[in-house]
Amino acid sequence: MYKRLFIGALATLAFSTNVLAHGACEGRPLHHDMENIKTELKGMASSLKSGDNKQAAKKVEQVIALFKDARSQTPYLFVEKKLSGDALAKETAEYQSVIDDTIQVFSSLETALENNDSAKIKTLMGEIGKQKHIGHSTFKADC
Ligand code: HEM
Repeated sequence: MYKRLFIGALATLAFSTNVLAHGACEGRPLHHDMENIKTELKGMASSLKSGDNKQAAKKVEQVIALFKDARSQTPYLFVEKKLSGDALAKETAEYQSVIDDTIQVFSSLETALENNDSAKIKTLMGEIGKQKHIGHSTFKADC
């Protein structure tokens, strides 16, 4: 009986912690930037598919602007970890460095699109996936 109550309480706690973490992340400017990046990338992929590289390059410009804004935001993970002082400065610098690398990849993609360089476009799309993985596995809280 007690065991069941205990498990029930644990399940409720896990559920509410998850919901709270999710809510905490959603209202933040970084979350909005990321959602907009996802939308612009979808638009870019469909322009690319229809052979409109010029339009795709415009979408990439939007993505770069959004990453520049994201660079000045604080990941929720840093708040959750209660980072401050030197630790906050160190992790912020690492976060900004990954964003800078990502912006670099998107700038190269813009050039490749303008040059209609299909091989380069394909390689850079792979690089973008890698940057996303690095960014999320290092700086994204479970939210
Ligand atoms: C390159 C393509 C990327 C896409 C399409 C993307 C997309 C998203 C989306 C849709 C979310 C919110 C929903 C979720 O999946 O949970 C998110 C959250 C997040 N992303 Fe990205 N992302 C990208 C790259 C990056 C990079 C490079 C970084 C870090 C350097 C990063 C850091 C984060 C963080 C920290 C959050 C959580 C929001 C918060 O802490 O408030 N993302 N991303």
